[in-house]
Amino acid sequence: MSDVLVLGSTGTTGSRVVRGLKALGVPVRAATRTPAQPGQIRFDWADPATYGPALDGVSAVYLIVPAVADPRPFVESFLDHAPRTRVVLLSSSSVHEDTPVLGALPGLVRQRPGWTVLRPSWFMQNFAGDHQVAQGVRAGRIVTATGDGRVAFVDAGDIAAVAVRALTDPEPHNTDHLLTGPRALSYAEAAAIVAHHLGRPVAHEPVSAGEYTQFLVRDGIPGQYAAMLASLDEAIRGGAEDRVTDTVERVTGRPARDFVTFTHEEIR
Ligand SMILES: NC(=O)c1ccc[n+]([C@@H]2O[C@H](COP(=O)([O-])OP(=O)(O)OC[C@H]3O[C@@H](n4cnc5c(N)ncnc54)[C@H](OP(=O)(O)O)[C@@H]3O)[C@@H](O)[C@H]2O)c1
Repeated sequence: MSDVLVLGSTGTTGSRVVRGLKALGVPVRAATRTPAQPGQIRFDWADPATYGPALDGVSAVYLIVPAVADPRPFVESFLDHAPRTRVVLLSSSSVHEDTPVLGALPGLVRQRPGWTVLRPSWFMQNFAGDHQVAQGVRAGRIVTATGDGRVAFVDAGDIAAVAVRALTDPEPHNTDHLLTGPRALSYAEAAAIVAHHLGRPVAHEPVSAGEYTQFLVRDGIPGQYAAMLASLDEAIRGGAEDRVTDTVERVTGRPARDFVTFTHEEIR
């Protein structure tokens, strides 16, 4: 098999995709802006000269879009270098056809001869590491504008496992995969699980969307982006993420990881 190119290979999902591919013996081209290890190659969305060499001769690519205001021209230019390469796009359950900017990207990928659009719900891993929610865990108060709305948090390892199948199965999946964990939890319920595990208080502090925007801005997030994040929380409050799919088990053959297991194994 030819190499599989993994963008964002040092990130939350990409690092797990790299591990999953290697475990199957699939040769991996791990893209990063700062390659330092064998198998890593230099790739920078800001340097289009890196697009062609990264894609040259690969059978498939795990595509994480660049975090810029309008990623579409970057993604179009990137995909133009390899019109026949299979593409697995990491999108999001909260991105829809009519979502400004990001809503257009799945359409680019669906024109390909082999494609998959991954649409995961919110990651369990947001409760660990550097994410805003993880900072809340450390502070003992997770601030959101989600109210009592539930989210079927999904494990990044499960997203990666589905990605690995989509990248390597003999037939391309040619479909959207809506990915969730095995049950939907409110932030208050998730906070209680984390608090029980850590043995110290962690609570959910529900605020209005306007208050949440201000909270994020005070934390250094630009106003427009903060307002967009607050609108996603409002959608959760309205029930947009309160649903469970069987996609992880259907595609990988094993059940999706539960939030309690994640908490025990990844939150310190
Ligand atoms: N968090 C959630 O709950 C959630 C839910 C649904 C969907 N998503 C989607 O998940 C995506 C993020 O995926 P992730 O969490 O796996 O990634 P991540 O952990 O945020 O990692 C981002 C990766 O991008 C690379 N990168 C940063 N700037 C780059 C540039 N200019 N050129 C090339 N590479 C660059 C970084 O690698 P280097 O520093 O090594 O270059 C890093 O490996 C986003 O599109 C988000 O919308 C997130």
